[in-house]
Amino acid sequence: MADTTTYRLILIGFGAAGQGLARILRDRGSWLEQRYGVDLRIVAVCTRNRGTVYNTTGIDPAVLLDAVAQTGHLRNLPDQRDWAPEDMIERADADVLVELSATNLADGEPATSYVRLALENNLHVITANKGPIALHLPELRRLATEAQLYLGYEGTVMSGTPALRLAWSSLAGCEISEIRGIVNGTTNYILTQMEQGLSYADVLAEAQRLGYAEADPSGDVEGYDAAAKAVILANVLMNAHLSLSDVERMGITTLTRDTIEAARAAGERWKLIARVWREGEQVRASVQPTRLPLSHPLAGVGGATNAITYTTDLLGDVTLIGAGAGGTATGFAIISDILEMHLLWGR
Ligand code: HSE
Repeated sequence: MADTTTYRLILIGFGAAGQGLARILRDRGSWLEQRYGVDLRIVAVCTRNRGTVYNTTGIDPAVLLDAVAQTGHLRNLPDQRDWAPEDMIERADADVLVELSATNLADGEPATSYVRLALENNLHVITANKGPIALHLPELRRLATEAQLYLGYEGTVMSGTPALRLAWSSLAGCEISEIRGIVNGTTNYILTQMEQGLSYADVLAEAQRLGYAEADPSGDVEGYDAAAKAVILANVLMNAHLSLSDVERMGITTLTRDTIEAARAAGERWKLIARVWREGEQVRASVQPTRLPLSHPLAGVGGATNAITYTTDLLGDVTLIGAGAGGTATGFAIISDILEMHLLWGR
């Protein structure tokens, strides 16, 4: 068998994404080791209100998951630490910071500070948090490059569906002139369920229960989450320098059962469409509810599924459809970044 490389992970945040990652490690950690030669150990979990644990030899993901399922927190587990995330980053024996705290699109904090500190402390960083990546990517990339550390953020767009990796690596050599798609799972789930006659409030609550929505779901329904993803797509894939305020944005809060029913009666469907496009020397971006005919390819993308179409010069349109939100899908994004990191940096 090939040599095994151990990666000791610090998790910040243990919500839907952190638990999704723990489930994958619980269920297929051994297989990942056999297949890819990576021994992935959660050595620390830091949460804001639900306890912080650290064990240098690793914490069984099943134990973490059982604790949360039974008590809603980690405070009864052994190896408690009264440490802030900053202390953990500086003091823990670890290799990778997995940053999964709640997204803050106002200033990207505290996640951005955790990422900076991790890079200063010789930790690779993998995150699904849109705040640091939408708002501070150039600086964080520079810090990672200077420190010769990996910075992974595939999970920031379309969760584990490889929207960024497809465009960045498999479409390398093509010029992308336009990107458009459905990039927010929560709103797509809400619109799909409302078409079935369910109420907005009930469906939003279900989207939260299923782990699709942000901690503050106004970021989803008002289009900020999709706008952040448009910024990431534009800046990573089209060499743009957009800020969140550059995105023309409208969410789905103006859509009612009546407007949804009117579209249905006309053979159409509302979708929240994100679009990034070149206009002369500029790259522009928008997020808008859009009425699509049922025959449109994006009209058939329902539930928390996302879809993205890259318009390229050499291949024409290339479309990717897949999971856009949810704990397991986002947990997988972290695994896929770890495996890429291992390929690039592992022994
Ligand atoms: N709240 C986000 C969504 C999670 O619904 O798409 C995935 O980024």
